[in-house]
This record gives sequence, C-alpha cells and structure tokens, in this order.
Amino acid sequence: MAECSQAGSWGRLQARFSGGARAFDLNQAFATEVGRFEHFSQQAPHVFADLSKNLWDRETEAMLMDLARERGVEARRDAMFAGERINRTEDRAVLHTLLRTPSLNQGAVVQELAVAHGQVMASLADMLAFADQVRADGRITDVVNIGIGGSDLGPQMAVLALDHFVAPSLRFHFVSNVDGHELAKVLNGLQPSSTLFLVASKTFTTAETMLNARSARHWFLSGGRGKVSDHFVGLTTNTRAASEFGIDTCFGFWDWVGGRYSMWSSIGLSIALAIGGKGFRDLLAGAFAMDEHFRCAPLERNLPVRLALLDIWYRNFHGFTSRCIAPYHSGLRRFPAYLQQLEMESNGKRVDMNGNALPFATSAVVWGEPGTNGQHAFFQMLHQGTDPVPVEFVTVRHAEHGLPDHHGKLLAHAMAQSRALMAGKADAGGHRHFPGNRPSTFMILDRLDAASLGALVALHEHRVFVAGAVWGLNSFDQWGVELGKVLALDLEARLPNADTQGLDASTAGLLLRLAGRQGA
Ligand code: F6P
Repeated sequence: MAECSQAGSWGRLQARFSGGARAFDLNQAFATEVGRFEHFSQQAPHVFADLSKNLWDRETEAMLMDLARERGVEARRDAMFAGERINRTEDRAVLHTLLRTPSLNQGAVVQELAVAHGQVMASLADMLAFADQVRADGRITDVVNIGIGGSDLGPQMAVLALDHFVAPSLRFHFVSNVDGHELAKVLNGLQPSSTLFLVASKTFTTAETMLNARSARHWFLSGGRGKVSDHFVGLTTNTRAASEFGIDTCFGFWDWVGGRYSMWSSIGLSIALAIGGKGFRDLLAGAFAMDEHFRCAPLERNLPVRLALLDIWYRNFHGFTSRCIAPYHSGLRRFPAYLQQLEMESNGKRVDMNGNALPFATSAVVWGEPGTNGQHAFFQMLHQGTDPVPVEFVTVRHAEHGLPDHHGKLLAHAMAQSRALMAGKADAGGHRHFPGNRPSTFMILDRLDAASLGALVALHEHRVFVAGAVWGLNSFDQWGVELGKVLALDLEARLPNADTQGLDASTAGLLLRLAGRQGA
C-alpha cells in the first residue's frame, strides 16, 4: 500500500485545512451548529466522551473517516483480532485482545487461535486461583512487583486506580528503576517472611529487572530463613530463565502479547492480588466490552477510531506536537505515564512497515498530571502560551470517598478548565487576555472500578492501533530502545577504570567526572 500522505483523502484534508479549517472557530461553531454536542459526543462501553470542543466539524470528520477507510483500518483491525502476524518486524501476531475474550465463536476461528484461547483460559484460572489463595492465606503482607516498562506501568497504574477495592491487609510496592535508591527504600521496613516478590518480565532478560530481582533475592536470603521459591514468583514468557533464577511458581504468557499490552496477562498478577480474581475478571470484561465496540461499531460511531482520527488531524494538519492528559481523579495519577509508553513506544516511529522513511509526523508527545494540581502548574501555558495543546480530561462521576464538598468542586474545576480553554476571555487586553479556541476532549466514567478501567485502557490501546494503521507503521515493535542498552553496557565496563578511549569528547568528559577522576 502507498504511504498515507499519498491517499486521496489526505490531499483533500490538506486542501480543507489550508482552505479555512486552519482557522476553525469553536465558539462560533457552537453558536451556529445545531446538535454539535449530540453529534460529537457518545456513550461507548463504560466511557462517555465529548469530542465537541475540538477543532473540527462534520465535514472534516467525514474526510478523516474516508482516510481511515482508504488506509484499510477495518481490514487491519480484523487481521489483528484474527491472529494474523501483523507485527511484521518481529513476525508475531498481536493478540492481547484474546486475553480478555471470554469465549470464542468456534465456527469462525482458526484452530491455532482456539488452542491459544484454551491456554489463555487455563493460565488465567491458575493465576487467579493463586492470587485468591495468597489473599485468603493472610501470611503475605507486602507484594513487591519488580518490572519495568509494560511490566510495571500497567499494573502500577491499575493498582493505584483501584485503590478503593484493594485488600487492606496487603501493601503493594513497584520497583522498576535500576537506581538502587528505589529498591533500597522499598526493602527497608519489609520482612522477608511476609513479602512476596513478583518478577515481572516478558523476556526475563531486561537488565534493570534482573539486577533488582537479584538484589531482592540477596536481601531475602541474608535476612530470612525462607525459601526463594516460596517468596518469588515469575511472570514471564521465559519460564526456563525464571526456573534458573530459583523460581518454581511461574505464570507464563505468549510472545503475541506486547510488553505495553500485557497487563491483561500474568503480568497483571499484582492487580489480581490487589482486587481478587473476581475483580480481575471484571477488568477483563470491561476491556472486552470495548473490544467488541471497536470490532463492531461503524467507524462513524466507533470511539477509538474517532479519537485516533482527531489525533491525526491535530498532528498532521494542525501540526500540534503534544497532547496533555488531565485525569481529574488522584487514583489515575499514573495514567498519563501509562499512556506515554502505550502511545510513544507504539507510534513513535519514523519508518513505515517496510522500513521506508515517513514524510509526515507520527506520535505526539503524551504528558500530563492529575487535576486540579496541573491547574497550579502548567495550565498557565495551556491557556495563554503560544502553542495550542489539545487537553484530554478524564473524570469520574461518583467518588468512593465519603468526604462532603470535595467531589463537586473537583468536577466543577474539570468542566471550568475545558470551558475556559474554549471560551477564552476577550474583554481584557494584555496579560489578562485569554485567546480561547483551545481544544479539549472530555471523558466521563460512572465510577472508577475494575470494569470501567479495563474499558478505558482498551479504548486507548485501540486508538493507538488505529493511528498506527492509518500511518502505516508497525505499532508493536520498539527497536528504538535497543541502542541505549548496548551503549550502557559498554560505558558501565569503562567506569571503574575511567576508560575514555574512542569516546567523543563530551561522553569522555562526563565519564571522567562521574568516575571521580576530574573535579566538578
Ligand atoms: O523498553 C523496552 C521494553 O521492551 C518494553 O517494551 C517493555 O515493556 C519493557 O522493555 C520491559 O520488558 P520485559 O517485560 O521483557 O522486562
């Protein structure tokens, strides 16, 4: 397939943008367009989304839909669900959706998929039985998840988000960084006999995770009399390496689950320990409901598709370089970081499926902090800075805390920010002038529970998929993380002797200082 910018609809979008859509006026659109809110908002499973405060109208949206069709998004989506090897650079299927599919329509699927699904169900049952047994047993008080990237961000984000449903007798810790300060702080205060370590690593070779796991094992052996095999569990596709580490209890998964798509697999054991087997199944059910929406809803009412097309409109036509995620719920404080990996590791690519350079921009920078904190930090720039940044508000209608007054205030602030970004303030000049016309999307969950969180995450997975499919890149590899790993090995070996031979002058100078061979 020719590249995206050669598509007829791409050219028409470009003409529309330079022919006037560039100066789209949101306030005017609301004043003149009947039913704008109704058209651009929708209830998808567990997630209501209002896309009406964005810089588009129905005609632009229709052209973006043409682009999606021209780029074969539907066929690509169906190929993913069918288990085709769409991750071409790694020659793998992409089947995280299978992990949350309760049953397959046997007649319609190939044998290979049915076998994989059987394994998924059996492995899920084993993992959840283990989680429920640890919870019932009561001997474990602290769970330490050791993992990085997708083996950390998803589970950590979910355990924090579902805090209200977490067993009060269990404390959860997440160690990801190779920086020993992180592990040391967690270990300080733990008892080996009541601690369970989850070594979460798809490959079981990631340097940071392996060093943290070895240091944790050393701490465990020097402090207690228990057996490593009773206190360390492996969550990995590399069960052999886990067993060599001294682990007997291992929950496996498959190479067709990408790291950043793996919280639904055994990598999610910390979530299951936190909210129980039933809670974990609710999480999967919420995600499955969103999968079905993505698979079956017509593109025009398909929320992941609409969001992805809006992302493309902003990135490739308006030229916006970033998107701010503003969750108005402190439980979602790691959600922006989670989305950062999901989107930037998936779509931060400069070549197409065949390795040819792309002549247009891809992933935006995804960043953010919970509201209202962000309002007292970076919202100044969002309202009055030189660069428009689309903002995505995520709100939750019901609070789980019993404190009066707080939740109404929180929700009012979220709505006020979205309204202020759009409306601006024209009746004042100079420093008090707000240009307005700044776009935002507003999402509402009824409650922040396992099912709605599952749906919210799956929504974003599919949104990233659609953008990647339109751009024609492989959203499921991550070659860009390799070079740094190799160079770090070389530099680590040079540090003890301050060996600078063959290094560029800057790296050599830094190495000498960090090795303590030159005064700072
Ligand atoms: O950062 C690269 C990466 O491969 C991520 O994609 C992945 O989530 C992370 O490292 C951890 O990998 P593993 O689970 O194999 O330890």
